[in-house]
Amino acid sequence: MNPKKLFTVLSSALILTGCSNDDSSAGIDTPAPAGSVTYEKDVKSIIDNNCIVCHAAVPQNGAPISLVTYNQVKDAVLKRSLIIRISLENGNNVLMPKGGPRLPQQTIDIVKQWEKDGLFEK
Ligand code: HEC
Repeated sequence: MNPKKLFTVLSSALILTGCSNDDSSAGIDTPAPAGSVTYEKDVKSIIDNNCIVCHAAVPQNGAPISLVTYNQVKDAVLKRSLIIRISLENGNNVLMPKGGPRLPQQTIDIVKQWEKDGLFEK
């Protein structure tokens, strides 16, 4: 292959790679299917009302993590068992909110449904 042809092949490969990157980042912004539970519509207010007194931007009262942004809450569901922690029985010493009482079952179910629906932001 002569050098000019090689250059053409390599540049096309770069252009194609660029395009596929654009495609995958477009996926992140895809809105949730209609009727899904979303962070902005349903979950943020639950966390704001019950958790951020401790899980603030600067965590308080010994809390190890912040639950202020979408990514923080999503990560806590994926990596820190957030749903298990809110689903424990009253009196369990690792129940969240810490010290109880347990959230109403209906509220817990919204967070569980959020996970089932795919943890969309909006
Ligand atoms: C009164 C303060 C307080 C409130 C309110 C509170 N937490 Fe916590 N949270 C803590 C403390 C302290 C810890 C660390 C001790 C432990 O893991 O039990 C913790 C730990 C956690 C962890 C585990 C983090 C890790 O790194 O493993 C999660 C998840 C969590 N909380 C979620 C929540 C959610 C969701 C709410 C609201 C429903 C909530 N917390 C409300 C104080 C609180």
